[in-house]
Amino acid sequence: MTLPYAEPFKTKMVEPIHFSTRPEREKWISEAGYNLFNLRSQDVFIDLLTDSGTGAMSNAQWSEMMMGDESYAGASSYYKLKSAINEITGFEYFLPTHQGRAAENVLFSVLVKKGDIIPGNSHFDTTKGHIEYRKATAVDCTCDIASDTRAVVPFKGNVDLEKLEKVLNDNPVENIPFIILTLTNNTAGGQPVSMENIRKTADLANRYGTRLILDSARFAENAYFIKTREEGYADKSIREIVREVFSYADGMTMSSKKDAIVNMGGFIALKDESIYKEATTFNIIFEGFITYGGMTGRDMNALAQGLYDGTDFHYLESRIRQVGYLGSKLREYGIPIQEPVGGHAVFVNALEFYPHINREEFPAQLLAVELYLEAGIRGIEIGAIMADRDPVTRKNRFPSLELVRLAIPRRVYSDNHMDYVAAALRNVYEKRDNIKRGIKIVEEAPILRHFTAILDRV
Ligand code: F0G
Repeated sequence: MTLPYAEPFKTKMVEPIHFSTRPEREKWISEAGYNLFNLRSQDVFIDLLTDSGTGAMSNAQWSEMMMGDESYAGASSYYKLKSAINEITGFEYFLPTHQGRAAENVLFSVLVKKGDIIPGNSHFDTTKGHIEYRKATAVDCTCDIASDTRAVVPFKGNVDLEKLEKVLNDNPVENIPFIILTLTNNTAGGQPVSMENIRKTADLANRYGTRLILDSARFAENAYFIKTREEGYADKSIREIVREVFSYADGMTMSSKKDAIVNMGGFIALKDESIYKEATTFNIIFEGFITYGGMTGRDMNALAQGLYDGTDFHYLESRIRQVGYLGSKLREYGIPIQEPVGGHAVFVNALEFYPHINREEFPAQLLAVELYLEAGIRGIEIGAIMADRDPVTRKNRFPSLELVRLAIPRRVYSDNHMDYVAAALRNVYEKRDNIKRGIKIVEEAPILRHFTAILDRV
């Protein structure tokens, strides 16, 4: 008999999670203004809000925590992290920051000025935010197929090289400080970017005299997909692939809360000393002295170890397999999901789930609420509420996709939890025709409204 798959780790410490009843959840979600961000985590049974900062650290990471050097300047933890980053990415220069968006803030303070254009593949919200805050423009050049949830293609996160070249052609290079590639493409469903696409993007950057920066939050998951899907990489190790990926780039921003499996942390790494030198000033203003940048010594130690843990093939296989397992269950139950399943989350297509619910009544938010009521599971809406209103017309914006993201924390839940999630969604799906109306907004902030909006049933 072929042996079944089993995870390459066992559990040493457990955290109880709590079942609740539907009447309790009715009360809690109503008190939360039908916004899952407003729930207390103790009132959630399985929390799939995000895979960011929610992973379980290894025994090696916890033991590194005890060895942290909390010196203000020149801590050994800084040098440990510098050496790990150099070994994993090949970058010579690095600055620690407290999380990914802080890395963006520091680096963009050097590179982005008013009127600039920054093309890329589905810039993450905070990346776009830091660009627009500086009165520059993020131009999304993601390949069109990414918005077709049913298309099964191996590298749906790729940038469209023709769209990208057009942006490079149509604008003076002084206004394009860099191209940014997000690995994996979170917004498009955790979809990977191929090595070929990264290499060709770097070629374009070189040819037009600009830079390539990688938003690397999920670089290791991306490398796993390159190894398993791209011709010529099956026999390369994850670390060899990672080194090749970063060899094409001028620098990276990192949210360590994802693929480095720490609860907090980030960094910038760079090839070029002069940008590093300019960025140090901003790091000191915004984050802290350059040898800690918003992180404690113990956090830097855990992060250094997490870079090794997170680039281990067997760990990555268990990770991506589990996300795929949830996807396969949902597929089996006929639930419409973004295909193929990406690296960190399964995305449910709410427009196909509730085709009879008007978009003005936010079908993805409705689905997230119904799933919570059914079984205490928390996902998030990635749809019209998150898209905010148009800044000029103040009308609701309706993006092409209206999704619920079920992000899977790393090394946290078992396949039984995945079965539970799948069964709960199946129940919600079977009852879909009984749901006649959606959700309305009662109160909202002018931007980033999804975090704090007060909602209600129509
Ligand atoms: N880049 C990407 C691709 C991200 O997914 C995130 C965060 C960031 C940058 C910002 O990093 O949170 O450390 O400041 N994504 C989280 C998510 C919040 O749930 O997808 P951060």
